[in-house]
Amino acid sequence: MRNFLIAGNWKMNCGPQETSDLLQGIKNSDVKIPDSIDVLVCPPMISLTTASAELEDQEDISLGAQNVYSEDNGSYTGEVSTQMLNEVGCTYVILGHSERREYFGETDKTVNAKAKKAVSDNLRPVICVGESLKQRKADEHELVVRKQVEAAILDIDADDAMDLVIAYEPIWAIGTGESATPEQAQEMHKMIREVLADVYSQDKAGQIQVLYGGSMKPHNAEELLSQPDVDGGLIGGASLKADSFTAIIEIAD
Ligand code: G3P
Repeated sequence: MRNFLIAGNWKMNCGPQETSDLLQGIKNSDVKIPDSIDVLVCPPMISLTTASAELEDQEDISLGAQNVYSEDNGSYTGEVSTQMLNEVGCTYVILGHSERREYFGETDKTVNAKAKKAVSDNLRPVICVGESLKQRKADEHELVVRKQVEAAILDIDADDAMDLVIAYEPIWAIGTGESATPEQAQEMHKMIREVLADVYSQDKAGQIQVLYGGSMKPHNAEELLSQPDVDGGLIGGASLKADSFTAIIEIAD
């Protein structure tokens, strides 16, 4: 009842030329994208226009940004608005990635403001949540993630709930080569879906995609994606090579 979403978060990699090369690599691969799989790429802001042009003839790959501001056009030096993302063909935006929380002062409050703005302007927010190693060791992971999810979706009403995507990314698994175990992922995804059910309804929660992120690679994708509450992946390193990204798409099929 839920499509898989296989999403690439390119982070601060791939300027326009490399973006073009990588997307051509994906397009020239033999990968078949069935209707049951949504595919998303999220290059850096500077490369979105190039990506949009590359994807013009590729309706089964969506385009997303890695951040957006919560206000409309105006005196916000360095920021980008939802309308600007719409204009270059973005339909998704990643929000609240732990790297933005750690290095750029993103908070639950700013994530919530951005998520509200995104859904009101036809962008599907991919809201990232996840605990640190210290929090997991202290057995606080469920509480931390529950609070992040509740805060991020505050005042987003049920009509817009279907546009939400939640990405569970344990910080200790990001870029480390050590992913969560399938059991750990399933436990957290189930809990996230319970939070969504509490806030919205069982029915709505059953339709919202909950992705796993953190060292997802072709060699571990199958067991992670086979968990009942894991609806896809938010993939960093492995999304930067056409062969590994398309391999994960094939595994999801
Ligand atoms: O948003 C994706 C991410 O943080 C995971 O990165 O490189 O561990 O797949 P990576």
